[in-house]
Amino acid sequence: SFEVAWEYKGVTLPTIVTKETMDAMPNFQIRDDDIVVASYPKTGTNWLLEIIRKIQKAAGKTEHSVVFSPMEMTVATATQPGYITLADMPSPRLVMTHLPIQFAPKGISKPQNKVKVLVPLRNPKDTAVSYFHFFNKMMQLAGTGVVFQWEEFAHDFINAKGSYGDFCDHVLGWWQMHDDPHFLFLKYEDMKKDLLSAVRTIVAFLEVDLDETTIKGIAEASTFNNMKTDLDNSKVAERQAVARKGIIGDWKNAFSPEQSKAFDAWYEKKLAGTGITSLTSI
Ligand code: PPS
Repeated sequence: SFEVAWEYKGVTLPTIVTKETMDAMPNFQIRDDDIVVASYPKTGTNWLLEIIRKIQKAAGKTEHSVVFSPMEMTVATATQPGYITLADMPSPRLVMTHLPIQFAPKGISKPQNKVKVLVPLRNPKDTAVSYFHFFNKMMQLAGTGVVFQWEEFAHDFINAKGSYGDFCDHVLGWWQMHDDPHFLFLKYEDMKKDLLSAVRTIVAFLEVDLDETTIKGIAEASTFNNMKTDLDNSKVAERQAVARKGIIGDWKNAFSPEQSKAFDAWYEKKLAGTGITSLTSI
């Protein structure tokens, strides 16, 4: 039978992340001019990456080198882990990782760094539902025969058995950096409600000079429907699977009242007093 996950230093990881890669991660060389997107899966990573790419392109900067999967993964279509490909790429690079902060390259979170790090955040219920659908889609594409039931997936998600570890621990780990000016945290829900403002914020954070018309054009091109069309046109099944529904509150179609209560109790306990409780009031 197919092994879906394994454990590294107490954190569950998908099997396309190897121990060799995990051991190499802390010392991976981050460059000052890298742009990093560090996220828990399904929180809006690809949305952010796409906006960043469009901004860089409009600013006439060399198209950022990028791997379409997290640097720690060895995806089926690649011959080597993403980080090895990245290490040989010219600057400026766009680096993506789903790792919890304690396993991520040390250069990302060292004090007085210059690298710009963007962290998307999303309410945990929608994140779990999105991850559930994506997981089963990936299992199906890889022909593993594994099919998760929602009941089991939701239970694992709040019992530290979900991939990349506990969602709250993951968010709190990266949140330690929220006062660092080289970090930008963006909530999925805020981006949905006012994408134009979010694009403006990202443009300012990247210290790029773009006029209002260009910024509006980028926001328009980054709506769910427009991005979905682009991803569908990519003809890569893994890319297409990324754009599913793109809405706030889809969890209401999946959660039982009991599951909703269990999630509420879990994150109220974990996130109380941390300043990021507004993530969960959706
Ligand atoms: S991954 O595989 O972990 O990198 O996934 P990630 O990109 O973080 O998250 C995928 C979810 O983001 C939604 N998405 C968008 N929402 C709104 N607008 C745009 N443009 C957009 N692009 C991607 C995507 O649909 C996934 O959420 P769900 O709820 O499954 O639809």
